[in-house]
Amino acid sequence: MIEVRGRNVSALLNPRPVVLVTTCGKDGIPNVLSVTWTTPVSHEPPILALSIAPIRHSHWLLNETGECVVNVVGQQLMDAVELCGKASGSRANKFAAAGLKTTGSVYVQPPRIDGALACLECRVIRSLIAGDHSLFIAQVLVAEADDRAFSDVWNTEAGDVLLCRQRDRFGICQKVPAQGNVRLSVNACANQKERLGNRSR
Ligand SMILES: Cc1cc2nc3c(=O)[nH]c(=O)nc-3n(C[C@H](O)[C@H](O)[C@H](O)COP(=O)(O)O)c2cc1C
Repeated sequence: MIEVRGRNVSALLNPRPVVLVTTCGKDGIPNVLSVTWTTPVSHEPPILALSIAPIRHSHWLLNETGECVVNVVGQQLMDAVELCGKASGSRANKFAAAGLKTTGSVYVQPPRIDGALACLECRVIRSLIAGDHSLFIAQVLVAEADDRAFSDVWNTEAGDVLLCRQRDRFGICQKVPAQGNVRLSVNACANQKERLGNRSR
C-alpha cells in the first residue's frame, strides 16, 4: 500500500460521472460549470448533494437563487466539460465559448444543455460548509433521460456517460466481450491536450 495524500485522496473514489451544472443569477444570466463531486443522498424525495468551492462563480449564483440543472453528458461533450471546468462564468460566456446550446427547463430558471443524456432539475434545500467546499443539498424536482441511453440502467452502447478519472483525465464505460457475461471496463478518453500531443508526435 502507498499513502495517498492531498488532492489525490478524492481520486481514490473515481471514476465517477462528471456533469455540467447550470445555474442562473437573479439577473437571469445563466452559467455552467463542470462538477465531479455529486452524489445521490435520498430516494424519496430524490435528493442530491453537490460539493462546490466558494471561489466558483456558480457558488455565488447557487446561493443567490438556489436552482440548478445537473446535466449528465457523454463523451461528445468532453471538450465542453474541460472548458467549463477551467474558465469562470464571472469573466466569460462559457455556453458560447464551448458551443453549448440550451433548452428551457420545466421547473427552474437555469437551462438544460442540448445533447445531455439526462437532466435533473434541482432546488437547493440546504447548504453547509465542508472544508474548502460547500455542500449544496438539492431536491430533484424532475429528472429526464434520453430513452436510447437509459432504461433503469445506462446502456453503454448508446449512452457513454463521461467519467472523471482524475482532474482533466476522462473515461467512458465500455462493454468488453466476455463469454456468457456482460463485463464493463473504463476506457480512457484522450482529451484535447492529449490529442494535440499525439498529433505533433
Ligand atoms: C473534470 C472536472 C471536475 C470538476 N469538479 C468540480 C467539483 O466537483 N466542484 C467544484 O467546485 N469544482 C469542480 N471543478 C472546477 C470547476 O468546474 C471550475 O473551477 C470552473 O471554472 C468554475 O466555473 P465558475 O466560476 O463559472 O462557476 C471541476 C473541474 C473539472 C475539469
